[in-house]
Amino acid sequence: MLDTPHPTPAEPTLDCRALAQKLSGLHFIGGRYVPGLSGQNFDVVNPATGEVIGKAAEGDAQDVNMAVLDAARAQKEWASIPARKRGALVAQCAAVLKAHQEELARLIALETGKALRTESRVEAGVVADIFEFFGGLGSELKGESVPFDPKVLSVTVREPLGVVGAIIPWNVPMLLMALKVAPALVAGNTVVVKSAEEAPLTVLRICELMNRVLPPGCFNILSGFGPECGAPLVEHRLVRKVTFTGSVETGKIVAKAAAEKLVPVTLELGGKSPMIVFADCDFDKTVAGALTSMRFTRQGQSCTAASRIYVERPIFDRFVARMQQAVDAMVMGDPLDEKTDIGTIISDGQFEKVQAFIAEGKATKGATAIECSALPDDPALKKGLFLRPVIFTGLDASSRLVREEIFGPVTVIQPFDDAEEVLAAANDSEYGLAASLWTNNLRVGLDLAHRLEAGLVQINQNLVVQANLSYGGVKSSGLGKEASLEAMLEHFTHKKTIMVNMA
Ligand code: NAI
Ligand code: MG
Repeated sequence: MLDTPHPTPAEPTLDCRALAQKLSGLHFIGGRYVPGLSGQNFDVVNPATGEVIGKAAEGDAQDVNMAVLDAARAQKEWASIPARKRGALVAQCAAVLKAHQEELARLIALETGKALRTESRVEAGVVADIFEFFGGLGSELKGESVPFDPKVLSVTVREPLGVVGAIIPWNVPMLLMALKVAPALVAGNTVVVKSAEEAPLTVLRICELMNRVLPPGCFNILSGFGPECGAPLVEHRLVRKVTFTGSVETGKIVAKAAAEKLVPVTLELGGKSPMIVFADCDFDKTVAGALTSMRFTRQGQSCTAASRIYVERPIFDRFVARMQQAVDAMVMGDPLDEKTDIGTIISDGQFEKVQAFIAEGKATKGATAIECSALPDDPALKKGLFLRPVIFTGLDASSRLVREEIFGPVTVIQPFDDAEEVLAAANDSEYGLAASLWTNNLRVGLDLAHRLEAGLVQINQNLVVQANLSYGGVKSSGLGKEASLEAMLEHFTHKKTIMVNMA
């Protein structure tokens, strides 16, 4: 078999186009780059220009098998390393990733169309932070002593599950991968990741960089399509834990396959996150908060995007006008340009899907579509998947735009008159991922925070995932939590009971 050990330099390389070429057509398995066994590759496209920037190996069940066998071989030895030492190695990976922050940011901007300044650089920084955080938790893999009988020593120990199969999406691929790989490794598991077909290169480079620190086989990554490469990974008999982030539809398929083998599964799925704005809020801060809540700098491609905004009637018109003004001021353009706030939609398919929602909204009687921000006029970007952010008013709870995840720069603002009414509207959703409340009346705020059906509720802020704070949804938004110590213990270890009779 052809074997390509590290064709890329260990030093950061800021030429993202050259790096994309070097990473082309490869998986990373057992501590080295390998081409896909089928020899088939697919194109990786820069959505800002439509240019093909590289190729990704089209993984299938054979590649999956090779990766899982390597991961299983590596796992016994990895688990035998003292937990704190494993953590130290993962923290060392964080330092390497931090040194490569700019390189990773440029590469992810190139392959996903996410603006360098507002999104890509931020994501690359958070990724290093997540590895650093989990790297410090090795010695927290503690068990308990259980009061059973004075003559019987009864203890529990935390043991790893084995090989973890992780499937990730394209919207924040580095971060969503880190939330799985970091705790899985620290807990003594080894990992095989299946990357998203739209964003396979930057995560591949992260895997290589981490493999310069980790023993071979601990962290492997494959590119490929869902049914051909993701499904065999989930189904592989040696994969003892499945963790998935993506759509509800695919999440259900993955959960069924995991149930067939009786292995635990963590699911981070979609959202339709409400933002509730009371008239007594700090107005300017809340308008700015609406922009970050809606993740406009990520083109709204976020499961926590505030795609339903409820504003108390006395300030409704003023809020809509100010929000329009603020979104208008955002600069849409070349993702690699420092001036750019808003980049592109990820793919033709997503572009069409979001456009269909916008068209449906515009065709709804009584609806107003406020299109903000100007499309870039640079001829080099004329094939780019740029889409003007849209603020809808005049749609009600029956609209598909209020009920379904759009995953684009589209939000719907609706007026409300009292707290009970808005709580009922917010909870009237299939989803339950995140919510935010904006008010200076903390009695009302805290009361609603307790009664909102969501995994994460924030008052007067709407931050993205943070290390040490459990993150994960209820209802169709998912199963299980990520990002925290508890998440690592619950989802990447099992508790073994050991009893010693000393009578
Ligand atoms: P998807 O859920 O189909 O893809 C996510 C990952 O699952 C990808 O790596 C894909 O290859 C893999 N996959 C697909 N079919 C599979 C199968 N049968 N077995 C195992 N793995 C499989 O999401 P997609 O098609 O990229 O986007 C569709 C919609 O999903 C978006 O419009 C958005 O609404 C939602 N979405 C939500 C995300 C989130 O963060 N919660 C992330 C990405 C998409
Ligand atoms: Mg899909």
